[in-house]
Amino acid sequence: MGKKGSSGRWLQEHRKDEYVLQAQREGYRCRAVYKLLELLERDQMIKRGQRILDLGAAPGGWCQVASKLLGPEGQIVAVDLLEMEPIEGVTFIKGDFREDEVLERILSSLQGEANLVMSDLAPNISGIRSVDQSRCMYLAELALDCAAKVLTPGGSFVTKLFHGEGFDLYVKNSRSMFSQVKVKKPRASRSRSRETYMVARGYEV
Ligand SMILES: C[S@@+](CC[C@H](N)C(=O)[O-])C[C@H]1O[C@@H](n2cnc3c(N)ncnc32)[C@H](O)[C@@H]1O
Repeated sequence: MGKKGSSGRWLQEHRKDEYVLQAQREGYRCRAVYKLLELLERDQMIKRGQRILDLGAAPGGWCQVASKLLGPEGQIVAVDLLEMEPIEGVTFIKGDFREDEVLERILSSLQGEANLVMSDLAPNISGIRSVDQSRCMYLAELALDCAAKVLTPGGSFVTKLFHGEGFDLYVKNSRSMFSQVKVKKPRASRSRSRETYMVARGYEV
């Protein structure tokens, strides 16, 4: 099927998608919120007054969820290449988190070490499986490096990963940095997608 055909099919599916409809009803910016809510389920990973860094934050669904759970005393610093509509209590940095200048802005905006770093970073998808796999794992590697710079001891890290080359090694390395590491596929993540998430807790410096 041509590009036009597949994007038409995507639009049709999107309009019927139960999570898209639920997000519209509940005032969320995107269906991705239901992935985060499931990842956090039962674990009480976000507590009032904590500090969070959100990498790849636009359009802002995860920030909406996190800011509700944090309450007014909490702090969120959110970064994205794309513009994001403001959310109360969220400090937004527009830029590429891989650049030193953006990292400096992240560090100076955070008012202390972060309790949670969450990354839903996604590269531009080329459609070439090996290219997309390595782009995704590269972003995840850099997100982990960034987390290691800002997390408080005992802090948590949630990241999107793609099943494929580099996945097992990534999870193995993370196990040496965190006391508990789980791999989860939330129901809201489409089953045909290789996307999955790693939830790591208990950062060990
Ligand atoms: C799936 S979306 C995130 C959705 C978000 N979790 C939400 O709930 O609204 C992935 C985002 O990663 C961002 N991104 C990809 N590479 C980036 C980079 N190097 N620096 C900052 N943001 C990046 C993209 O612009 C995109 O908005």
